[in-house]
Amino acid sequence: MPKEKTTYLCSSCGYRSVTWLGRCPQCGSWDSLEPQVSYRPREREPKGPSTKIQKISEIGYEEEERLTTSIQELDRVLGGGLVKGSLILLGGDPGIGKSTLALQILHSLSQRGFSTLYVSGEESLVQLKIRAERLGARSGLIGVMGSGSAEEMEEGIKRLKPSCVVLDSIQTCHTEASDAPLGSISQLRDVTLKVMRAAKENNVCIILVGHVTKEGIIAGPRLLEHMVDTVLYLEGESHQPVRILRVNKNRFGPTFEMAVFEMREKGLWPVENPSLLFLKERPKGASGSVVTPHMAGSKPLLVEVQALVTNTSQPMPRRTFLGMEAQRIWLILAVLEKRLGVMVGSRDVFLNVTGGVRIQETASDLAAVIAILSSYFDQPIPEDMVVWGEVGLGGEVRSVSNPELRIREAKKLGFGSIILPKGNMSELKEKEGLSLHGVRDLREVMKLLFGRR
Ligand code: TYD
Ligand code: MG
Repeated sequence: MPKEKTTYLCSSCGYRSVTWLGRCPQCGSWDSLEPQVSYRPREREPKGPSTKIQKISEIGYEEEERLTTSIQELDRVLGGGLVKGSLILLGGDPGIGKSTLALQILHSLSQRGFSTLYVSGEESLVQLKIRAERLGARSGLIGVMGSGSAEEMEEGIKRLKPSCVVLDSIQTCHTEASDAPLGSISQLRDVTLKVMRAAKENNVCIILVGHVTKEGIIAGPRLLEHMVDTVLYLEGESHQPVRILRVNKNRFGPTFEMAVFEMREKGLWPVENPSLLFLKERPKGASGSVVTPHMAGSKPLLVEVQALVTNTSQPMPRRTFLGMEAQRIWLILAVLEKRLGVMVGSRDVFLNVTGGVRIQETASDLAAVIAILSSYFDQPIPEDMVVWGEVGLGGEVRSVSNPELRIREAKKLGFGSIILPKGNMSELKEKEGLSLHGVRDLREVMKLLFGRR
């Protein structure tokens, strides 16, 4: 009989410790370590020759099999459709539309003749039926099961042999392999392991639906993200119709892709021209607003960056940055003080990317700089202008990738005046009808836009 041993597992990030700690050293959560009984493995006995080493040139190679849905934007962000035998985690806040999207995927597959299975441990089958009626999903090829058991789900897969399964949700699913309470980290981990095996053994794509907590982590386990092949997040404000589907991890395709949908009466609809949607309500002639083309994965998207710089009434100036990485904006504020002498240190600074878009590339640095300067000097910038460029610590404006794609998107939406890194100028072919201003550093930007040195 192997020896029993107690270890402590963080319910938030999965960190394991041999002693109990009040605070997790990995993620900093308080009181999150739970005791786990595990068995100490016996000493390994020496075995014969271990796994064979092969030559890389001799390994056979097959492209993964993909299932395309008719939801083109979804197929695109996944890198060409759902991969058979893979596990996808679909996360998002409660009420954002995860179950809707999951059912739409099955509906769309059923229309192409594939059988599918929806396992609901969260909602009753009647609730599921009401949603299906709204979406017009009436195909006999969609099997449904009201169960929260991973074993029953596997049985269902064996019987029905579907090509895609939805498990809604991971938090309400349990497995016989675990005695831990429902929703605990070890139960979640065991369920995910079980589901992962079921996906591989039956060569079926399984979509796990998971709730995100207020902190933005999939309830409890970051751990899950490591176990699955693909992580999709559905984001947005529940009182607004725009939903952004973002890829956070993808073993079978590009990461950082995103697609924009709109929640309508009959489910989620892809937005044809997201740039137009994000710029629709842009204020005219207001200071602190600038448009930048940012690369959302492989697609350019025009978004508005807004800043508000005000005198503070607090001993500590307030700083709120939404949609851009706070560390980068801190850096930009320091560069503005040191290189341009713009003293923003004692002011409140707010920055926002409209439409709930999150920018993850440095190409939008220049937009943050210009929005902040425009608000600081209270001088609006021309309405038909877009800007981009990475800003270095010396105040230099550095070139970035894909200038041609950015220009094309700007042109498509009628923007004619562009401030860009000088280094990007030589790469451009489509210059006709545009007024281009290549800049080397922030001093040139100051002179050009605000007439100051
Ligand atoms: P739901 O998919 O249940 O969210 P989740 O699974 O993420 O908790 O959808 C939630 C909201 O979407 C709900 O408030 C109703 C709305 N909705 C529509 O606007 N149109 C639709 O066609 C459907 C099915 C839902
Ligand atoms: Mg749901």
